[in-house]
Amino acid sequence: MKVQNAVIPVAGLGTRFLPATKATPKEMLPVVDTPAIQLVVEEAVRAGITDILMVTGRGKRSIEDHFDRSAELEHFLEAKGKFDELKQVRAIAELASIYYTRQRDPLGLGHAIACAETHVGDKPFVVMLPDDLVRPRTPLLDRMLKVHERYGRSVLAAIEVGRDEASLYGMIEPEPVEEDLVRIVSIIEKPAPERSPSTLAAIGRYVFTPEIFDALRKTPPGHGGEIQLTDAINLLAQEQAVYALTFEGRFDVGNKLDYLRATVELALDRDDIGSQFKAYLAELARRERLS
Ligand code: G1P
Repeated sequence: MKVQNAVIPVAGLGTRFLPATKATPKEMLPVVDTPAIQLVVEEAVRAGITDILMVTGRGKRSIEDHFDRSAELEHFLEAKGKFDELKQVRAIAELASIYYTRQRDPLGLGHAIACAETHVGDKPFVVMLPDDLVRPRTPLLDRMLKVHERYGRSVLAAIEVGRDEASLYGMIEPEPVEEDLVRIVSIIEKPAPERSPSTLAAIGRYVFTPEIFDALRKTPPGHGGEIQLTDAINLLAQEQAVYALTFEGRFDVGNKLDYLRATVELALDRDDIGSQFKAYLAELARRERLS
């Protein structure tokens, strides 16, 4: 069955990016000129997703406005003859069918995903965490969906990290299956480095079978007193195979340094400013060497 649904939890407060996120949702912070959340939605659409549910919280109205029509702006652009901008603004509202539901209490990522059950129903679906950006030319989601088609099971995305970073991620106990693909024997949320089963970390792209909802129902509060998606994945992995596809090229845009890296790499990739920006970086590097 072709996967058409994606769930994007956007209820987080973005405390790692204060003061920018005091009155602006962290998902709306731009990478060059495009809000991070739009990059995530575009990534979903490229992989064939047509239906997106955002699990929101208080203070996230501007995300809904961003993906809606903007009559006043469109009228203004039309009157001024700014047709390229008009096309761009309209296209955002037509990317996919986007729905919203509220996570009323911040009970954790697992709880946010459980809020999607009535919308998604009994079908496989994708979960995308908007703090994680993937290099646009990396067809990660496409590859994950192909693994899902082949095995009919849930598939996570994973990267290699330093052992000292284990306490930031869901850490995987892997069993090799084929190149770039492992089966998850177990997974543990944010372990202390010495307790981590490996240096393979889950990142925020998941393809789930609907049985994840049963696992979530059985999941008690875990790390930080929250209902953890990782704990539900661990339960699911004991009942049916769960795979992880390893890849490179992920940015954590909730982290200041990684946000800068994402901005630089995505800017270099652009047709409009890429070559000028590259020349500037080369000049900057030369100046730094001289000083
Ligand atoms: C979440 C998940 C964690 C995963 C990480 C990937 O943590 O709980 O398992 O490894 O995303 O970015 P967060 O970064 O939201 O604390």
